[in-house]
Amino acid sequence: PKAKMIVDKEFVIGAIDPRLYGSFIEHVGRAVYGGIYEPGHPDADEQGFRKDVTALIKELSVPIVRYPGGNFVSGYNWEDGVGPVAERKRRLDLAWAAVETNEVGTNEFAAWANKIGAEVMMAVNLGTRGPAEARDLIEYCNHPKGTYWSDLRRSHGYEAPHNFKVWCLGNEMDGTWQIGHKTADEYGRTAVETAKLMKWVDPTIELVACGSSSRGMPTFAEWEATVLDHTYEHVDYISLHTYYGNRSNDTANFLAKSLDMDDYIHSVIATCDYMKAKKRSKKQMMLSFDEWNVWYHSAAADKQLERWTIAPAQIEDIYTMEDALLVGCMIISMLKRADRVKIGCLAQLVNVIAPIMTANNGASWRQTIFYPYMHASIYGRGVSLKPVIRSPKYDSKEYTDVPTLESAIVFNEESETLTIFAVNRDLADDLDVEVDVRQFAGYRVVEHIILDNPDPKARNTLSDPLRVTPRSGGGSELKDGCLHTRLPKLSWNVIRLG
Ligand code: AHR
Repeated sequence: PKAKMIVDKEFVIGAIDPRLYGSFIEHVGRAVYGGIYEPGHPDADEQGFRKDVTALIKELSVPIVRYPGGNFVSGYNWEDGVGPVAERKRRLDLAWAAVETNEVGTNEFAAWANKIGAEVMMAVNLGTRGPAEARDLIEYCNHPKGTYWSDLRRSHGYEAPHNFKVWCLGNEMDGTWQIGHKTADEYGRTAVETAKLMKWVDPTIELVACGSSSRGMPTFAEWEATVLDHTYEHVDYISLHTYYGNRSNDTANFLAKSLDMDDYIHSVIATCDYMKAKKRSKKQMMLSFDEWNVWYHSAAADKQLERWTIAPAQIEDIYTMEDALLVGCMIISMLKRADRVKIGCLAQLVNVIAPIMTANNGASWRQTIFYPYMHASIYGRGVSLKPVIRSPKYDSKEYTDVPTLESAIVFNEESETLTIFAVNRDLADDLDVEVDVRQFAGYRVVEHIILDNPDPKARNTLSDPLRVTPRSGGGSELKDGCLHTRLPKLSWNVIRLG
């Protein structure tokens, strides 16, 4: 099979916000305790954070990390997590049926984020709490000094304000599983009143309103419209969340699921723009895809989980080669709308549906999905260009006309590099691709990175952590303004020209 692409410098979709490559740490399972933080571990630093994990996260160049939830935030009293650690209260976490020790809270997390060089994307509790507590929290975090909450922070050893810039107004408030679940009107009203107070405390912040917790929710689209009707002029982003799985073991259909993500993004943009029209607003609403990933492997194990333990091994998906391909396709899906999707958070970062795994008191390693995420984060900075693609297509159980070739192009003018991210969805055959890059005279192929494996179910584990790793492909050739390359069957590819 053969495919063709045309790449043109003028076909600009939009500037890629580096925050598209964000991630997420929730107080759930072993994400915090036993993940980023394990004081007894031989590699722990003076604050108890695991240096091996920090080093792996640095490889990913994560610009922003959402915290502290997720479902957890909807029952969280942030005051429980500040002040002397010895005095902190243990609480039942009703979201995950676990015990929260509160050893790590807002200040420790801010210090950790600093170590990995990331911004914090804070979430406030709009489940059991409301505008007043959100106002107190932002005053504690962002106000310099001279008031009760800001001086309390200083007395806790954090003289300088954290200045968290991006804040989520609750989490998945449309879901019945959410602590303090609300109707769209109830949430919209609470969100706008919270937004007002928070921006009065710190007008420099940006706010994310909760969209639907997935495109499959019965209230999807109507929820977005109603919430934005209440909040449009007071918030900056609406959130999107999605997780895909391959429960029926149908790889061709599974790999096509990013088409659902494409449609989801387009539908939310359309709903935002409808509200812009209705309000005669000059403002363009942006999208925060602040939870996305593959999630299904751990579902059965989680049903057996004992309740009320500390940091149980919960939602720990062990990812396969094919999962890495879908993750690559999902990144491409966001790059295709880089003009509107400004924040993305791979959910999550360590142990819990994560690119990085740890053994308690043991090693840490990279899952298969680590690689497409890392490549995109490192090489996917610049502007997203819209390629014209002619690709063979196939039909699967749920999707028609699925292109075998999925691709996004990133041009970085400053470093004069052109990066082609490409997935070959074909289960059986390599794909020959011709890319017209005649505007990029003088460029040469810097490298062609390939992630593939003869077994689509291959995984990286504690005993075999390097089974799926990228390799260097030698076959790409640039001749007379045309790149000739071959993408192996079921592969993720990064072709860098410069
Ligand atoms: O990321 C895991 C969970 O998925 C989050 O807590 C919740 O927001 C979503 O349902």
